[in-house]
Amino acid sequence: MTPSSPPAIILLTGASSGIGAALAQSLASRRAHLLLTARSADRLTALAQRIHAAGGSATVLPLDLAAPGAARHLFDEVQRLGLPIDTLINCAGFGLFGPLADNDPARLSQMLQLNVVALTELTRLFLPELLARRGTVLNIASTAAFQPAPYMAAYGATKAYVLSLSEALWAEYRSRGLRVAAVCPGPVETPFLDAMGAAVRSTPLFRAPLTVDEVVQACLRALDSPGPTHIVGLRNRLMAQSARFTPRGLLARISGAFLAPPAP
Ligand SMILES: NC(=O)c1ccc[n+]([C@@H]2O[C@H](COP(=O)([O-])OP(=O)(O)OC[C@H]3O[C@@H](n4cnc5c(N)ncnc54)[C@H](OP(=O)(O)O)[C@@H]3O)[C@@H](O)[C@H]2O)c1
Repeated sequence: MTPSSPPAIILLTGASSGIGAALAQSLASRRAHLLLTARSADRLTALAQRIHAAGGSATVLPLDLAAPGAARHLFDEVQRLGLPIDTLINCAGFGLFGPLADNDPARLSQMLQLNVVALTELTRLFLPELLARRGTVLNIASTAAFQPAPYMAAYGATKAYVLSLSEALWAEYRSRGLRVAAVCPGPVETPFLDAMGAAVRSTPLFRAPLTVDEVVQACLRALDSPGPTHIVGLRNRLMAQSARFTPRGLLARISGAFLAPPAP
């Protein structure tokens, strides 16, 4: 981007906390105009104020993306603003920890709606203008995408979906100038872990979480690089690679040993 060109317009979901909030601040300092969405209007407003105070620009669009039809509603809101987006970052998401039979059915539906349905619908709705502007879709997946994840089975499956979708779209649209990338962090120290309950921190996998800054740096690199898949951290890259050569049943059992909740 030259100093005289208009700022890139970036729509960022999950902007009120954790990875999304930190990424928003880094992107704002790169002369982007940010459209920030999540449910917490107060936290989004405070973030936008910090961005404005630092000389950046941001618009706040509070919304529950787990509500059916929310992606269409957000798309219509962005159209009303008359701001064609250059980059869509699907960061909103949450996880459920514990055996599936213990997961609250209503929360399970919300997770599928947010992690899978809203992400897919937003991508589809914004695709024509992203293609026209040779833009970018960045999806936050997870290392849970690379193997079955017992005790976070449905969450892991949502992230396997996000990774598969991202890589397929990368291949589908790369010749037309659209970049699609998935960033796959392992555990990260954010409110995401608190929302899954205290037990998750006692599992072997969650004992050495990444920092938010490590994930933000990986997202910034992914935005600037042509490849589809970006695993954050050497340990996570090695684990994802070794999963490729392990029989699936054995892999599920090993993964279960890393994720099993502590005995009561
Ligand atoms: N932290 C980890 O260990 C980890 C590891 C791998 C991947 N990830 C992925 O990274 C992404 C960001 O997570 P994080 O770690 O930054 O967690 P976080 O701090 O809990 O942030 C989650 C974001 O999603 C938003 N969100 C949750 N439910 C929503 C809803 N119904 N509608 C709209 N927005 C909603 C939250 O905002 P509101 O509550 O204000 O709505 C928040 O901004 C997620 O996709 C997560 O799956 C996280």
